[in-house]
Amino acid sequence: MEAVLDYLKNNRERFVRELCDYVRFPSVSAQPQHRTDLVKCAEWLVNHCRGIGLETTLYPTAGHPVVVAKTPRKAGKKKPHFMVYGHYDVQPPEPLELWKTPPFEPRIEGTSLFARGSSDNKGQNLAHLKAVEAYLKTGTELPCDLTFVIEGEEEVGSKHLAQFLQQHRKELDVESVVVSDTGMPSKKFPALTYALRGILAVEVRLDGPSRDLHSGIYGGTVDNPAMALCQLIGKLRDKNGRVAVPGFYDDVEKLSAYERKEFKRIPMSEGEYKKLMGVSKLFGEKGFTPFEQRAARPTVEINGLTSGYQGDGSKTIVPAWARAKLTFRLVPNQNPTKVRAAIFKQLKKLCPPTVRMTITAGHGGEPYIVSPTSPLAKAALKTLKEAFRREPILIREGGSIPIVTQFKKILGADTLLLGLALPDDNAHSPNEKFDLDCFEKGILMSTHLWQELPKAVSAS
Ligand code: BES
Ligand code: ZN
Repeated sequence: MEAVLDYLKNNRERFVRELCDYVRFPSVSAQPQHRTDLVKCAEWLVNHCRGIGLETTLYPTAGHPVVVAKTPRKAGKKKPHFMVYGHYDVQPPEPLELWKTPPFEPRIEGTSLFARGSSDNKGQNLAHLKAVEAYLKTGTELPCDLTFVIEGEEEVGSKHLAQFLQQHRKELDVESVVVSDTGMPSKKFPALTYALRGILAVEVRLDGPSRDLHSGIYGGTVDNPAMALCQLIGKLRDKNGRVAVPGFYDDVEKLSAYERKEFKRIPMSEGEYKKLMGVSKLFGEKGFTPFEQRAARPTVEINGLTSGYQGDGSKTIVPAWARAKLTFRLVPNQNPTKVRAAIFKQLKKLCPPTVRMTITAGHGGEPYIVSPTSPLAKAALKTLKEAFRREPILIREGGSIPIVTQFKKILGADTLLLGLALPDDNAHSPNEKFDLDCFEKGILMSTHLWQELPKAVSAS
């Protein structure tokens, strides 16, 4: 192990340079114009993995390709097998004018590396690759076999990955999946995440007049689709911050007294949280703390709202149409399909006869919850402590990684969520950054992980 640790120390700066190369690819999965950038990014990753000494294949899918990289297997020697999952796709960088420097031109300031995708998720998955590189380049035997699966569609719902897992499930006979794509409250509180919210995306479009109309000549005689849409969406949430869809809460599991107590231990005050959000007052479901609201309660959010004239100055029209992109976050034991039916029913009920409504369901993912006290979870906690030199905590997170429930269903494997992001990393926001201390400690954590996880497997 000493050789591995020395290797990490001696190559630290190069690792950062490589992360800079990785984030230069504008691998925005949601935008069709970036299709070839995703392929180029995946090819860079393939070359990188091969350079490390991993047996690497690029699998095309009906969407963006999947990179699969395996540690060389020793003939006749069966070792515990783990999968490391990550994603090389990133969220759209818009609005561009709010970035201090361009999103795909990495900039280092202090210990922060600014670039879209630096934290979510390139920095986090590269940390695992660097740990394995240290083993392979120093000729140190890994006590386990590893398969990296790094996909290009996480940010758009991992549409084609489940099929990939089905096709490859025999070779993915893993004990567990390791994912670093979540966060921790601060560098002093490394965390194991044991629950994620699920998600359901819905687009609602209202069509009114056959074209934009003069709002002076005709306004007041036909419905305004933008107004109708605002009124309709406004009815989806009540004044207590609850989702106003009949049946929506039917399967929501009650938070236990134990968990509520644990939430109180999160080392951030409401004041600090408000500051981080940039608001003077919070809003959320009555009866729950902000930390419960963001991780363990379901919500509805408008992610995008489009209608009418958006340019400079004014244009007096009744717009022909209006569209909203909504997502609902789900918690155990809500089922996206069941919830979707309830939402569609309510939307149809609320739609006035003066406009035509089109509803489209987007991606969906089930909520995830797993025992934080399994032998593997305990081993993972130990490695967090070794790397960060702090006592780790157990947390639930509000974000979603829909594929983790598929790991369980298709591969029969639980997921260890060992996030390296910080709350001020600006994931999905302008000026995303990754903390280089987290990068370094993440590499160290991963290094220890491959020692500890196999032991936990043989002990159980
Ligand atoms: N890394 C996030 C998920 C995440 C972040 C989980 C922080 C927990 C804490 C991931 O890349 C993500 O953004 N997922 C999407 C999924 C969706 C597009 C299907 C999300 O949560 O919005
Ligand atoms: Zn993300």
